[in-house]
Amino acid sequence: MKFFVDTADINDIRELAETGLLDGVTTNPSLIHKSGRDFMEVTREICSIVSGPVSAEVVATDHKEMMREAEILRKIADNIAIKVPLTVDGLKTCKALRGEGTMVNVTLCFTPSQALLAAKAGASFISPFVGRLDDIGSEGMSIISDIRLIYDNYDFATEILVASVRHPVHILEAAKIGADVMTAPPAVIRQLFKHPLTDRGLEAFIADWQKTGQKIG
Ligand code: E4P
Repeated sequence: MKFFVDTADINDIRELAETGLLDGVTTNPSLIHKSGRDFMEVTREICSIVSGPVSAEVVATDHKEMMREAEILRKIADNIAIKVPLTVDGLKTCKALRGEGTMVNVTLCFTPSQALLAAKAGASFISPFVGRLDDIGSEGMSIISDIRLIYDNYDFATEILVASVRHPVHILEAAKIGADVMTAPPAVIRQLFKHPLTDRGLEAFIADWQKTGQKIG
């Protein structure tokens, strides 16, 4: 499963990229706002750090204007994936951009049937928002298994990008289902590394090693 980080914070992106485990980045207008940075400038900087797909979202709601914005955004770097909302105009834009060889991430997906439409529009990625479904009392992860089943039934190449991830269990469940990608906030990715028994075990090994009085090399 590919790991994307869901942020426009350059320090977090740099730190996670250094682990060698980061495959891409997703941003959205709210994350750009949170970063306090200029959209074009911060997106260019992210693309210079990460070679995998970097999602940059259009803010227009009509097809013609989405295409105009996408034209500007895709010139930032070759690894830009244009993010479009799951609307009629968004999917028209998806189809057109895919025809021109541009990567497209269809966002704000909340049902398996919306995901089916995105795959038919040739989306590179579909982003189902599991956390926001959980927030309204729906079982977010269940749409991931439904989408997996539908995409496998028809061999759709669209990658399932599990989004709106709130905790490590979402990531574990996504991996068990066989999602292609997950995108999570930096703090959730860092949580994956942690276990108290790892910390305690390491402390004991180091303490015992020091008692041996030895050195490696
Ligand atoms: C995905 O691309 C979105 O940016 C993101 O996962 C939304 O997450 P949220 O529901 O926590 O805002």
